[in-house]
Amino acid sequence: MKLFIEKDYDALSKRAASILIEEISKKEDIILGLATGSTPIGTYKELIRAHKEDGLDFSKVKTFNLDEYIGLDGSHPNSYRYFMDEHLFNHINIDKSNTHVPDGKAEDLEAYCKEYDRLIEESGGIDVQILGIGSNGHIAFNEPAEELSLGTTVVRLKESTIRDNARFFNSIEEVPKTAISMGIGSIMKARKIILLASGKNKAEIMAKLLKNDVVTTQIPASLLKLHHDVTIIVDEDAYSE
Ligand code: GLP
Repeated sequence: MKLFIEKDYDALSKRAASILIEEISKKEDIILGLATGSTPIGTYKELIRAHKEDGLDFSKVKTFNLDEYIGLDGSHPNSYRYFMDEHLFNHINIDKSNTHVPDGKAEDLEAYCKEYDRLIEESGGIDVQILGIGSNGHIAFNEPAEELSLGTTVVRLKESTIRDNARFFNSIEEVPKTAISMGIGSIMKARKIILLASGKNKAEIMAKLLKNDVVTTQIPASLLKLHHDVTIIVDEDAYSE
C-alpha cells in the first residue's frame, strides 16, 4: 500500500489526477472505475483542465461508476449519473455510450446487478478504480456489516450514511434508503485502486484504517489491504488523528 499525505484538498486532487493522467496517457482505451461524493470533484476538475489545456484524450476511455441511488433516474439532480455528467463527462471528449452508471430505475434489480458485473468483465475489467470513503468506512455503498457482497448488489443505506449525504438533498427525507452498489469483489478485481480521503470528518476513520493492522467487514475499506496495488491519498486534515 502506498500512502501520500498532501497538504490540502487542492494538492490531494492534483496528486490523484496526475496518477490518472499518467495512466490514461499510457493506455488510451483505459477502463476507469469512478466514484461520486464531494471528494473526487477536485480530481475531476484537474482531468477537465488536462483535457482542455493539454489535450488529454478521452475518446476511447470507458468508465464504470460505483453506485447509484435506487429510484432516481439520470435526469434527477441528485442522481449519480447527473453528478458524473455535471462534474466530468460533459466537459471532456468522452463518448457517453462508453460511460456506465448503474441504472437506479432498473426494473429487475437483481438481474441488472449481475448484468453490470458481466459488462465490466466483458469490457476487460477495471484498470484504475477511484474510491472515496464514507465516515463509517464504507466504499461505494458497501456498508459495515457482518457479511459483504462480492458482486454488484442492492444495498440498504445506514442511518449515518443517509445523514452524511443529506447535505446534497433539500431534506433528509428525500435521501433514498437503498442503492445499487458495486460489490467488494467487483472493486477488488480492479488492477489498481486509488482511495481518496479529505477533511477532518474523515480523520477518525482514516486513523482506524491506517493504525490497525487488521481487516474487518465492519470497516469495508480495510479489505483493500488485501489488494496488491492500492494508493491512498489523504490531506493533512484527514490524517490528523
Ligand atoms: C457516498 C458514495 C461513496 C463516497 C462517499 C463519501 O456515500 N456512495 O462512494 O465515497 O459518499 O463521500 P464524500 O466524498 O462526499 O465524503
